[in-house]
Amino acid sequence: MRADFPLPEQARLTEEIESLALIRDPDSPGWTRRALSEVETAGRREVERRMRAAGLEVHVDGAGNLVGVLEGRDRGPALVTGSHTDTVLGGGRFDGMVGVLGALEALQCLAEAGVRLSHDLWIVDFYGEEPNDFGVSCLGSRAVAGNLSRGHLDRTNEQGRRLGEAMASAGIDPDRALSARWNPGDLAAFVECHVEQGPLLEEQGVEIGVVSAIAGIDRAIVNFQGRRDHAGTMPVPMRHDAACAAAEVILEVERLGREGGVGTTGHVVVDPGAANIVPDHSLLWVEFRSIEQAWLQSARRGLEGAVAEVSARRGVLGEVEWPSLEAPTPMAGLVAKAVEDAAVGLGRSVARLPSGAGHDSVQMASITPSGMVFIPSKGGRSHCPEEFTEPGDLAIGAQVLAATLALLDEMTT
Ligand code: HGY
Ligand code: MN
Ligand code: MN
Repeated sequence: MRADFPLPEQARLTEEIESLALIRDPDSPGWTRRALSEVETAGRREVERRMRAAGLEVHVDGAGNLVGVLEGRDRGPALVTGSHTDTVLGGGRFDGMVGVLGALEALQCLAEAGVRLSHDLWIVDFYGEEPNDFGVSCLGSRAVAGNLSRGHLDRTNEQGRRLGEAMASAGIDPDRALSARWNPGDLAAFVECHVEQGPLLEEQGVEIGVVSAIAGIDRAIVNFQGRRDHAGTMPVPMRHDAACAAAEVILEVERLGREGGVGTTGHVVVDPGAANIVPDHSLLWVEFRSIEQAWLQSARRGLEGAVAEVSARRGVLGEVEWPSLEAPTPMAGLVAKAVEDAAVGLGRSVARLPSGAGHDSVQMASITPSGMVFIPSKGGRSHCPEEFTEPGDLAIGAQVLAATLALLDEMTT
């Protein structure tokens, strides 16, 4: 495999990332560009401009995905790469952006190496990868994989608004999104470059991660209904305190998540929210993640058992709803090999590792062989303003992505 892929200019890629990061919600912390928001639409307009400037034919598909196309010598099924440019609330500058802006950099790298791909190349900015207020993640990639359902569109947020309505307000016709499925026969393979969002590559001093599998994610909403009482007069042993029931379950989620997977309670609501009233209602948003399906099933049983036990003991009504269950996703051997061979061919150190974070690659894996290139995250931090990846690592990621695309082009011809 040719190894003369020039290392992209660190300063240019860093500048591309930093300047896009400036398009952010001024009223939110960090670099916030949440899907279904005007600021996210502004960010994607800028990405579209950059895709066109890179010489791509750009269109927005029925699910709101930005798709930049570079025609190949022989056309045929497309090689696809990309990621997302929406963020979590209070997010960072690199999660997702590296896979879209790094892909444009990889395009440049291929050109400078004199490589004209046989296959068409699609560079995609997938719509709404982060979980939105309706509890649905990977909106755009879910749609093209044919996994977006009317049930997803009927999900409501805390204000009772439907996701379909919010998409329409953001300019995405929900009915078009439901029929935006890509034909797997039009695709040759998918590869996504992404920051690791964890500490392993940095700890091991390794430049490139070859992702073996992406963790399954089971999301639960736990609802406790207790009894409202005066906080000054009702003796504690006689209370049916929905907040204390929630507190016990939060710690049980942490205990369940200590090994084999992770458990997180990321959002808590306690009502009525007054210091002098014993809470009669609480809501918990819980996530379990693991690359082992059996572990996820045991964690689900553990949570349901804990809610039942706490409810009976405290005389509260506890219910568990599972709005989304996503099994672990193995990455395709073909793509993992291409990533590994490309990195080794460029003299980069590599390690295979699972991804604890979810990605558009999960959805893409259901319609075409898919894999991921990881680059290190400083301190393993992500989903926070402190998220950071060194310019040198950004450039190496783009270079390895370019070489991987060239290899996949040969391997899928
Ligand atoms: O939540 C995740 O793992 C991803 O960042 N959406
Ligand atoms: Mn993320
Ligand atoms: Mn991401």
